[in-house]
Amino acid sequence: MKETILISQSFHIEEGDFEKAGTATEKIREILKSLGIKPDIVRRVSVAVFEAEMNICMYAHSPGNVLFNLTDLKIEVQVTDCGVGIPDLEKAMQKGWSTATDEMRELGFGAGLGLPNMKENSNTFRIESEPDKGTRVIMTFDYL
Ligand SMILES: Nc1ncnc2c1ncn2[C@@H]1O[C@H](COP(=O)(O)OP(=O)(O)OP(=O)(O)O)[C@@H](O)[C@H]1O
Ligand SMILES: [Mg+2]
Repeated sequence: MKETILISQSFHIEEGDFEKAGTATEKIREILKSLGIKPDIVRRVSVAVFEAEMNICMYAHSPGNVLFNLTDLKIEVQVTDCGVGIPDLEKAMQKGWSTATDEMRELGFGAGLGLPNMKENSNTFRIESEPDKGTRVIMTFDYL
């Protein structure tokens, strides 16, 4: 059966701006709530997108983008940056692994749980990264 995109929206993520981080998450949350998507799904999508947004803000050294697609079958979110990339994805996916600075840790980040959290909260999770090219996280969520 052919999959149909019902809503497609793109949101900008600013580089290094902790104050503004979370705006894409907030907008996606509003869309999902207004569509009457189950609260548990809204929560899972929000957690996963927020973690991805924070990572770009803190580590990418480039702006980024969130592409949100709602289809008749699933929610798909692609979070992309053209930044420094992740040299060792296997390490980055491990719980507790982090390159956060002391300053980030003082703000409560750097537990090394963001990527594992994205994986746990999504139904499918894929990450692609290339040093000096950037990083893309693609997650889907079943909502039906
Ligand atoms: N978009 C990105 N660009 C470059 N490096 C990244 C990116 N996302 C993650 N990383 C690297 O992967 C590591 C692990 O990310 P993860 O989100 O799991 O943990 P964290 O951000 O360090 O801590 P937490 O998410 O618990 O606050 C980061 O410390 C960083 O080195
Ligand atoms: Mg993180």
